[in-house]
Amino acid sequence: MTLNALPNALRYQSGFGNEFASEAVPGALPHGQNSPQRAPHELYTELLSGTAFTAPRADNRRTWLYRRQPSAVIGGYDPYAQPFWTSGAAGGVVCPPDPLRWKPFDIPDEPLDFVDGMRTLAANGDADAQTGMATHVYLANRSMTGKALVNADGEMLLVPQQGRLVLTTELGILELAPGEVALVPRGMALSVALPDGPSRGYVCENYGAHFRLPELGPIGSNGLANARDFRVPTAAYDQAAAFSPGYDIVKKYGGRLWVARQAHSPFNVVAWHGNLVPCKYDTAHFMTIGSISFDHPDPSIFTVLTAPSDTPGTANCDFVIFPPRWLVAENTFRPPWFHRNLMSEFMGLVHGQYDAKAEGFQPGGASLHNGMVPHGPDAESYRKASTAELAPHKLEHTLAFMFESRYRFVPTAFALQSGSLDTAYAGCWHGLHDNFKDTAA
Ligand SMILES: [Fe+2]
Repeated sequence: MTLNALPNALRYQSGFGNEFASEAVPGALPHGQNSPQRAPHELYTELLSGTAFTAPRADNRRTWLYRRQPSAVIGGYDPYAQPFWTSGAAGGVVCPPDPLRWKPFDIPDEPLDFVDGMRTLAANGDADAQTGMATHVYLANRSMTGKALVNADGEMLLVPQQGRLVLTTELGILELAPGEVALVPRGMALSVALPDGPSRGYVCENYGAHFRLPELGPIGSNGLANARDFRVPTAAYDQAAAFSPGYDIVKKYGGRLWVARQAHSPFNVVAWHGNLVPCKYDTAHFMTIGSISFDHPDPSIFTVLTAPSDTPGTANCDFVIFPPRWLVAENTFRPPWFHRNLMSEFMGLVHGQYDAKAEGFQPGGASLHNGMVPHGPDAESYRKASTAELAPHKLEHTLAFMFESRYRFVPTAFALQSGSLDTAYAGCWHGLHDNFKDTAA
């Protein structure tokens, strides 16, 4: 398959973390070895490593690429002006220990593609130290043409909220719709097209260890996100031999953006095999597990993917969803209880309502509850949930999600000054009065 034949012929492989192989031209993939003296069809052999060579076998990620020209064929890089995409806690601003919430971020009228429309909201850690993450929204209204993004700082988890995305990667094409999410490995070229015009969504840029499926413990061998439901592209390459006036490669490297121009398309991989791959996942396939007696479990039960840190069980980032589900627990408060946690929580809403905030938290908006910042259901949600008749109830037409990190997020100047900040947010708890009655007195 060639890129030029798309998008009618999209085919996917399935699985997560396993070994995949694909060739767009029969015989392009070497058999029995990775690096023959000359690769089939006069292709160049190139290795993309996603982990250290000596990472444990279960964590090791790498893919072999057989391409028309190697990635090393490129000119010098110049700085690329995009002041709204920042990295690491050092790029943030001083933040008080308040809960923060944002109204939906408007998509500007000025021409913006996926790279230029990226707006960092909050970040922690340090991209160069391979620790922490950043949360962004993309506010885009045109496709990337003759332009690719290579993020050398981190793996990207894309959560579209409005508009489909067509992701062209070095390993092939992924078509992504709201409700689905996609992972693009660190260092892999990506170009984003917008078939529906103005588009908005969320991005987790993970500087740390790559996302993987969480352990299931007593749940057993099935449940939550099942590996077979992840979709991986098949090989597809640009047929054009040269581009005029060239192909812009925007590289995110060390927290800054750079651009270089090359004559050929970076999407020139004719065959590949490996386990470092882009993939997508439809959250409708998430097998949700919850209480069938009383008291809901911790929200970790909704973890789709986790990127661990050096401390067992304390993630660099967890990706957690709150999908449609039945609520059947008896004699209990069903929404999230009031809490303050070690972990820091960035939330977004793809569509519908979130059960702890019936109003005020809107699709395309966001909230941030950093570590040890108290929060919970707003006064109205608390009143309803604490007096509701607890018949079985299905939460439908909703998809909220959380990027949860052990590291406190630092918001950006854009996040605090763009006009989307909900300055009245803390007032949603003011109606929670002291109703205590000391009946013993
Ligand atoms: Fe929370």
